[in-house]
Amino acid sequence: MPEGSQAIELRGVVKRYGELVAVAGLDLSVKPGVCFGLLGPNGAGKSTTMRMLTAQSIADEGEIEVLGHRLPRESKQARMAMGVVPQLDNLDVDLTCRQILGVFARLYRVPRAQRPSAVQRALEIANLTARADTIVRDLSGGMRRRLLIARGLIHRPRLVLLDEPTVGLDPQVRQELWTLIDGLRAEGVTVLMSTHYIEEAERLADTVAVMSAGRIVAQGTPAQLVAAHAGREVVEVYGPPARLAQIEADATANGWRHRRSGPAVAVLGAEDLNGEAPEGVRRPANLEDAFVALTGQSIE
Ligand SMILES: Nc1ncnc2c1ncn2[C@@H]1O[C@H](COP(=O)(O)OP(=O)(O)O)[C@@H](O)[C@H]1O
Ligand SMILES: [Mg+2]
Repeated sequence: MPEGSQAIELRGVVKRYGELVAVAGLDLSVKPGVCFGLLGPNGAGKSTTMRMLTAQSIADEGEIEVLGHRLPRESKQARMAMGVVPQLDNLDVDLTCRQILGVFARLYRVPRAQRPSAVQRALEIANLTARADTIVRDLSGGMRRRLLIARGLIHRPRLVLLDEPTVGLDPQVRQELWTLIDGLRAEGVTVLMSTHYIEEAERLADTVAVMSAGRIVAQGTPAQLVAAHAGREVVEVYGPPARLAQIEADATANGWRHRRSGPAVAVLGAEDLNGEAPEGVRRPANLEDAFVALTGQSIE
């Protein structure tokens, strides 16, 4: 990869499914060595973008480069150089962890003599050493997801794509995976991760691109996104429905940024409202406030 170039570069990428525009002109640059989070609600186009980066899906328009390889022409080279962890678990349930990792070591051309140590290393990273000879059918959901990640790392890729790495997992397992992903970044591996979990993006990503309806609507560090789109402080007003409706009407009339937040109305950028802000609970603005402001979507 030439000096100074991006690990991933997309320019004007469009993907249509019949009438539906799944990705609507995407520009994206991912620098080497960062953990980049693609954050968006379901249907935003995250998985479609990920599939185009592995050339499982071909863009209708635009240009894509991965590790200096132009897609789809050089998709084979690009695929060999990166690690891919799909959203859906496609593991063969009759094979053991060791067998699966062995198959992928061969597929990714790890030299024969190095395969046992590559398998051992992947098992260690994924904390599956004790389960090396367990068949997939007998693994828990969290272990299967860790095996899927180990499989994507078997050839020590410099770039790893993770599509919704913790979707459907319980909070404790999610924490384990976060530790694993954070460890990759610490080793200098470039990570592109998609997620619809705000906390996941906030915890892991150096840079977050918020995706909505096939486009990037904002990009920056989590702190930059919060400052730009939700301000510093939020006032949450609780009360009976009529009171909340009144606050929403006032907010609209006064041009205050606001949203429903569970049983409350949250007024964003309260620090700029001087004496005008309604009475309520003050708290620091967070990435969820920015996400809702940007995408118009509530969470879950
Ligand atoms: N193979 C497909 N055929 C038709 N529509 C698709 C296909 N894959 C995705 N879509 C549609 O494209 C849009 C984006 O989907 P997707 O990329 O899966 O979003 P995300 O991963 O952000 O949830 C959705 O409206 C989805 O229904
Ligand atoms: Mg998806």
